[in-house]
Amino acid sequence: MEAHSSQSIASLQYADPQVDELLKHSIRTQLESLLKAKLTTEQRQLLLQKSFVDAMTLVLSYAKVEHLQLVKVFDNMYEQAVQSMAFAQLSQEQLTRQYVSASGLIMSPHNCKHTIKDVYRIKGYARGIDLAIQSKLKHASSITILYPACGPFAPLLLPLLSYYKDSQIFTSKQINVILVDVHPGAILSLQQLVKDLQLDDFILRIEAADATEYEPAESIDLLVLEAMQHGFTKEGQLSIAKHLVQFLTLDGWMIPQNISVRGEMVIGETEFNQQWKGMDYSHSLNTNESAQNNRVELGEILSINKSTLLNMQELELQDGVKVIPANQIMLPNDIQDMNKRILVIYAHINTFADEEVGQYDCGVTHPRPDMTFYIDTKPRDIEHTHFVANGGDTVQFYYQLTGLPGFIPAKV
Ligand SMILES: C[S@@+](CC[C@H](N)C(=O)[O-])C[C@H]1O[C@@H](n2cnc3c(N)ncnc32)[C@H](O)[C@@H]1O
Repeated sequence: MEAHSSQSIASLQYADPQVDELLKHSIRTQLESLLKAKLTTEQRQLLLQKSFVDAMTLVLSYAKVEHLQLVKVFDNMYEQAVQSMAFAQLSQEQLTRQYVSASGLIMSPHNCKHTIKDVYRIKGYARGIDLAIQSKLKHASSITILYPACGPFAPLLLPLLSYYKDSQIFTSKQINVILVDVHPGAILSLQQLVKDLQLDDFILRIEAADATEYEPAESIDLLVLEAMQHGFTKEGQLSIAKHLVQFLTLDGWMIPQNISVRGEMVIGETEFNQQWKGMDYSHSLNTNESAQNNRVELGEILSINKSTLLNMQELELQDGVKVIPANQIMLPNDIQDMNKRILVIYAHINTFADEEVGQYDCGVTHPRPDMTFYIDTKPRDIEHTHFVANGGDTVQFYYQLTGLPGFIPAKV
């Protein structure tokens, strides 16, 4: 039987208003876990393993699966993973500390834990990773996979490994995984989850390190990475990918194989309200044709893949801030209602082969409005952070590699 120490419960007996919501959540999670602690360790681990295998069985089946069925199976995987996290007995600090590093936001395990129920993101990645692994193992007896910034549940790989183990499609002799995360709470959760899933044989190492500095001793066949937020902002995807791409073998692959970051000028009401009337959930397959036709396309702002990463030149500005030059875009000059439009930026992710995560499929590919970018109009209260241009102007986009990564437009 498993039970929590009285000390971790006792440490939650105060209520600071600022963290009260988090505490309540944490207390509830731990209490529920205590209730479930009536299960033996073996029973709990079996339920956890089954939930991971069930999610991947649906995702990899290629038969049409109803949205609600997917959501249900992913919710179950989430519930089970959270139980495992509770048994890792994180302190409140380890659970909730969130901060900004030199390369981007370091999210707390408390906030990261939801990414395991992000159905269509995981679906696009898991299918792509599965195809890439199959392809690599046709020509090699074993491969090494590096998964930096994997978070507390490493949800792009651990469910897939559970599925491989259960179905005996691939063995731990064929797949060696290195998991890296800089957050101590994520590391503790990962260690517990790998133990509960009995996947230790597949995991070469769990490293507590900053992925923008980490240097693996092995050469890497597959680099799996998702450390981004909508509009390709806030998290350190680019800095991490740019650093780690050098450790890929010559024929090694990045997953995603390509991220295309695109810009559109939209009427906010049409894009974010009218388009979704009558829809139960947002997804690239549920977008509305007339709303999509109503957009004015600016084009690709940046594409991130193995080749662009290896060739990317950093510019260092006077104050030490580093930027990457992205694409130049000529603003269209024949759009009558341009002054009513806002810029949205979104990422289209090609994980591998034809597998993808499209706009609106998940939080990270959701188009992000940028309210500081004006064409053919001026904001009432102009601030120095606003960008003002006219149709016909050419805009050079840069990507800033700071604690708050994101795009900066500049007039050429
Ligand atoms: C949103 S969560 C994990 C997302 C995860 N890749 C997924 O697919 O669900 C972000 C995690 O990335 C980690 N992280 C962010 N930047 C990092 C860095 N530079 N080095 C290592 N870990 C990082 C954070 O500590 C956090 O655990």
